[in-house]
Amino acid sequence: IVVDTFDYVVFGGTGDLARRKLLPALYHRDIDGQIPDGARIIGVSRRPQSNKAYRAEVQAALEAHLRREELDKKAVDKFLSRIHYVACDATTDTGWPDLVALLDEGKDRVRAFYLATGPDLFGPICEHIGRHGLVTENTRVVVEKPLGKNLKSARATNDAVGRVFPEDQIYRIDHYLGKETVQNLMALRFANALFEPLWNNAHIEHVQITVAESIGVEGRGDYYDTSGALRDMVQNHILQLLCLVAMEAPSSMDADAVRDEKLKVLKSLKPIGPHNVSHLTVRGQYRAGVNQSGTVPGYIDEITNKTSRTETFVAIKAEVSNWRWAGVPFYLRTGKRLANRVSEIVVAFREIPHSIFGDGEPIPANELVIRLQPDEGVKLWLQIKDPGPGGMRLKRVPLDMSFASAFKVRNPDAYERLLLDVIRGNATLFMRRDEVEAAWTWVDPILDAWAASEKAPKPYMAGSWGPDEARDLIRFDNPTREWHEKSLSAE
Ligand code: BG6
Repeated sequence: IVVDTFDYVVFGGTGDLARRKLLPALYHRDIDGQIPDGARIIGVSRRPQSNKAYRAEVQAALEAHLRREELDKKAVDKFLSRIHYVACDATTDTGWPDLVALLDEGKDRVRAFYLATGPDLFGPICEHIGRHGLVTENTRVVVEKPLGKNLKSARATNDAVGRVFPEDQIYRIDHYLGKETVQNLMALRFANALFEPLWNNAHIEHVQITVAESIGVEGRGDYYDTSGALRDMVQNHILQLLCLVAMEAPSSMDADAVRDEKLKVLKSLKPIGPHNVSHLTVRGQYRAGVNQSGTVPGYIDEITNKTSRTETFVAIKAEVSNWRWAGVPFYLRTGKRLANRVSEIVVAFREIPHSIFGDGEPIPANELVIRLQPDEGVKLWLQIKDPGPGGMRLKRVPLDMSFASAFKVRNPDAYERLLLDVIRGNATLFMRRDEVEAAWTWVDPILDAWAASEKAPKPYMAGSWGPDEARDLIRFDNPTREWHEKSLSAE
């Protein structure tokens, strides 16, 4: 569906996010015919340069981040003709009149300001946007994480943006919500009658959410070392996944209906603080080792602070304290330099109450595994009779739905969906202010308790699944519980 004509203004237009994600995503939407004639993409950055020079930069970015077969000369030229550039300083008035003049040519269009800059610039940029009269009824602002380093700074950022834009014009991106399989979680839960009656503590024994990465800090050491895995991945992406698994059915896909339900989950998270942090969390930091990417150095060798205690791995036993979920552990885990790049959600059902198969072997419980990336798909693990005349032997097999084989279509990048949702004015897949702040409210005491503790993060070898303590965390109340690791490496 073609959207209304728009002007997309990308602050940080020469930066990494714009080059790696935003411009390639808009190009893809363009070749799919979803960008209307006359729509403009306006890169903004401090450095003065001509439209022509910026278009060459954009072309280089597309060539660097897309496959050759995706780059058709005519399509690239058409896309480049939409590109404009304005040099603007976020903190002074320099360049703003040029931006005003350019945007004046499209007064009635949908106008989106994408702040692909550091969060310290969100306030000053919004202030200038407001002061120069650039906010129309059809204007939206898009902000990227990190939205704060804690509740206090998140509130300050939200206040600064909120002084210029009303909440319904603010789009806070969590790119995990744009991933196909993440949206599919909602389809799976709420378009099928099968799962919902079982989706509670009477039938579900525990839930695992793993977002494992094989990459390290990738030249982002300065940012990462002041952040760590809890802020970088759990406060946003993993808690959003948890919300989609745990929330009640919203009354519709309306943005506030969905976000109201997610907020209730965040507010129901059982607090973790000094009294229980050592039982419920495990922090790790990688040492040199070998993984999917080959032989890789340790974290300390990749950053400047050689005594850093920043965690590159975290495992948490979380609990959603409400009627549906009381007593069901949600094991959350993420880390850099792990064995594989793989993200998945495992819903582990309870065991059968009584076995009629007499050999005394325990019968593994059913599991629903939602693979978010790579090899996106859904598997429901069941017991069947092993074929053959050898008696009643049971075998664990999956009902297996792989997206790649079920649908022969390209899996679009998360940003493709989200960038155009902004133009459509659809905020369902974006975070509301109270959600972000509720997530920080849960995370802050964990950060404080870690900071107060004498203990350093546990070392783990690059290429492993994190420190051994993470295994103990999941076995603590039930020795038969395991992280879903065999399948992550081998399936
Ligand atoms: C980002 C984090 O938000 O998500 C990165 O800042 C991380 O550290 C990335 O690598 C993971 O995203 P994806 O889409 O590759 O799973």
